[in-house]
Amino acid sequence: MRAERTSFLLVLGLLLTGICSVHCLPENVMVKDQCRRVDGHTLASSNTDFAFSLYKQLALENPNKNVIFSPLSVSIALAFLSLGARGSTLTEILEGLKFNLTEIQEKEIHRGFQHLLQTLNKPSNELQLSVGNAMFVQEELELLDKFIEDARVLYASGAFLTNFRNPEAAKRLINEYVKNKTQGKIEELFKYLSPNTVLVLVNYIYFKAQWKTRFDPRHTQQAEFHVSKNKTVEVPMMTLGLETPYFQDEELGCTLVELTYTSNDSALLILPDEGKMQDLEAKLNPETLTRWRKSLQPRRIHELYLPKFSIKSDYVLNDILSQLGIKKIFASPDLSGIIETGDLVVSQVVHSAALDVDEEGTEGAAATGISMERTFLRITVRFDRPFLIAIVLKDTQSIIFLGKVTNPSQV
Ligand SMILES: *[C@@H]1O[C@H](CO)[C@@H](O)[C@H](O)[C@H]1NC(C)=O
Ligand SMILES: *[C@@H]1O[C@H](CO)[C@@H](O)[C@H](O)[C@H]1NC(C)=O
Ligand SMILES: *[C@@H]1O[C@H](CO)[C@@H](O)[C@H](O)[C@H]1NC(C)=O
Ligand SMILES: *[C@@H]1O[C@H](CO)[C@@H](O)[C@H](O)[C@H]1NC(C)=O
Repeated sequence: MRAERTSFLLVLGLLLTGICSVHCLPENVMVKDQCRRVDGHTLASSNTDFAFSLYKQLALENPNKNVIFSPLSVSIALAFLSLGARGSTLTEILEGLKFNLTEIQEKEIHRGFQHLLQTLNKPSNELQLSVGNAMFVQEELELLDKFIEDARVLYASGAFLTNFRNPEAAKRLINEYVKNKTQGKIEELFKYLSPNTVLVLVNYIYFKAQWKTRFDPRHTQQAEFHVSKNKTVEVPMMTLGLETPYFQDEELGCTLVELTYTSNDSALLILPDEGKMQDLEAKLNPETLTRWRKSLQPRRIHELYLPKFSIKSDYVLNDILSQLGIKKIFASPDLSGIIETGDLVVSQVVHSAALDVDEEGTEGAAATGISMERTFLRITVRFDRPFLIAIVLKDTQSIIFLGKVTNPSQV
């Protein structure tokens, strides 16, 4: 048995566009009080655009490494944060998430996410999928009622009072919460939490689905996987013959196979021609995805070879989000929608994801955490131009010296 081609693009599927393109795109969401359709496609197409942009940055910064993340989890967490953002901080987050604010209003975006969360969490016999949000709040931080209410209604988030002055215990609480919600797959979302933390927002996703056509474990054998021209590794290679959507993209130089789960969600596997990974990565965008969707046609594949794998990644996204235009949240944000004084700043955006693909199906989990600290009002006055000085004796209020400093370097 041979692995026919080199370099496999494992990354994209599932947590990314796979789930979304079939399962969770509500065709159209009615925003009743406005009698206006926010079509699921606006949300989906912005989310896909964001997914590919984030992918490109992550792939660029992690060359020759596995990449796995849940763009949906990051999008939801940032949209949740945006509930409390105002002014240019708000615009930056929404535009960073690839929303075109001349086409869609903030309110519609939140409604879109609300609907998406409801759709994703509908119970199904064929699929285990849960997506949720939570916030962990320093005991005496006074969140605005509106924020608590919007978090509950739109993002289904509850609030847990937390003592961050004991950062180890707070970290354990949050990590345990995420671990529980991801069926033990994400064990340590936060590696570190500062004792100055006052608020943490969390999103988690758990996904488990079975292939419609399963691989027979008796046919799985060790085979070569060509990591690069020079490097070959042995991996357990699953194999199967089946009829499934297939497309040979001559234009971009890649082969696509879509594998369907019993739930009718699917994993899209994209195999670039040898040496074409970077070209393909550069062309990943929502239009390409739409073209692929239209071109995939059921075909008989006599032998499909797919490695069985488990991959995991942890990221701190601060720098990457800044490169995608979401900067203010880390510097001088206006978060006056969360607390009245608004003096909060985001200290970390962390993300962890794990994906297992085997003969039975796929299990994936991901979580995003956003930690915030108080900004202390910092006043800076710089005497770097001519100034006056008066030295006054306290008891008598006598001015004992009075002067003007025009050039401190002169004697
Ligand atoms: C936003 O939408 C408007 C109107 O549809 C369009 O003219 C504009 O080019 C879009 N902006 C971006 C950045 O895509
Ligand atoms: C998660 O928490 C619930 C409720 O406390 C508990 O019943 C369940 O066993 C936990 N699951 C895991 C995977 O820890
Ligand atoms: C392949 O190996 C050669 C010599 O062992 C090395 O010089 C070259 O950089 C390697 N190329 C890649 C792509 O790793
Ligand atoms: C999946 O699609 C097939 C064919 O369209 C349909 O018969 C089946 O009921 C669907 N299954 C689920 C779980 O939606």
